[in-house]
Amino acid sequence: MAETHDKPPEQFTIRLRRYDPSSGEAPYWDEHTVELEPHRSVLEAILQARDRFDGSIGIRCSCRQAICGSCGVRVNGEPSLACHTHLDAAKSGSAEGVIEIEPMGNMPVLKDLIVDMDAVHWKKIQRVTPWLLARQPVPEREYLVPKEAMVDVTQTMACIQCGACVSDCLAMEVDPGFIGPAALAKAYRFVGDPRDEQQLQRLHDLAQDPQGLFDCTHCFKCVEACPKDVNPMGQIMRLRRIATGDHHIVDRNNGERHEAAFATLVKDNGLLWEAELLPRSYGGNSWFGKFAPRAGKELLSSLPAILKALLRGKVTPMGALKPHKIPAADLKAVQQIYETIEGRERRYELNLYIVGEDEEEPQAVGAAVAAEQTTGDEGGADQ
Ligand code: SF4
Ligand code: SF4
Ligand code: FES
Repeated sequence: MAETHDKPPEQFTIRLRRYDPSSGEAPYWDEHTVELEPHRSVLEAILQARDRFDGSIGIRCSCRQAICGSCGVRVNGEPSLACHTHLDAAKSGSAEGVIEIEPMGNMPVLKDLIVDMDAVHWKKIQRVTPWLLARQPVPEREYLVPKEAMVDVTQTMACIQCGACVSDCLAMEVDPGFIGPAALAKAYRFVGDPRDEQQLQRLHDLAQDPQGLFDCTHCFKCVEACPKDVNPMGQIMRLRRIATGDHHIVDRNNGERHEAAFATLVKDNGLLWEAELLPRSYGGNSWFGKFAPRAGKELLSSLPAILKALLRGKVTPMGALKPHKIPAADLKAVQQIYETIEGRERRYELNLYIVGEDEEEPQAVGAAVAAEQTTGDEGGADQ
């Protein structure tokens, strides 16, 4: 690290996306060359360009230490915190040695690199009631919470509300009304907290919302974008598992049925049988599902997409009609995984975010967890 910091200043060219909606003019690129040590940040380069060449450059920042989340931008097309992106790294990741800096996506631009977080990000956060709805009666002193339960929600508590995940969410690009990764990660913060009284109501609300829990398409973009390893998609999967597996919430979006059909098809065939997925998701989780009126209606409305897939060779008639097959031994191995997982009394969640040594001896921690699991104390490490 010391070596990097010892390097003398050098020239970096930054290309900024400029846009002022109030001007009536179209967006344009604006290039400046700044001089800074390579370990300095992209934010410092933008600020130097603003100080030396053009005081009208719009950028939002505060802490300059990757804490406040206000300097979110796209650097070379990737969502980044400008204050947490070194110039040398940004230059080596650029196409022609010119560092391209744009405003975040999925949010309207207020000016240059500043997007309207209120209009999108904060509205969605408000949507999930982002505070604890305390379990009653409130204890006279403090709530006693299992340590594992708090470890479990720590990952979501690391969110700095920078909006990088929102900026890159593919589902939100298609459906701007989707509640989005940051808000759903925030929802898990309280769903996973044993002090919250409204776990079921929160899950019910998010599962039934057509733009809620089941609108995510598992694209992993939010996982890659997050500078704090919050893993929003992982939190969404946890919310779904609790909603479907623990509370058996059958939602009007068919998320629960779709998930069940998916799991059954993989268990029975070793691979997904796509042609059966839709009828089973809508008509019932068995081969007869396709004869249910609801499945027929859904199949009819999907005909254009099915025909398009056939014409483009993405599916073949035989491939659609016959299930995919894997060798019998492999199928047995897949089914063994199901049996092992389904045979467990409780589900295990691994929070890979927390690293480091525990103060207690490993045996003592194991014993504490085992005791907690045996007692079945709700709000433990499985949430
Ligand atoms: S995984 Fe889901 S929430 Fe995350 S970016 Fe993709 S669609 Fe959005
Ligand atoms: S989840 Fe990560 S990327 Fe999304 S707002 Fe929070 S810190 Fe930023
Ligand atoms: S200025 Fe605070 S996170 Fe970058």
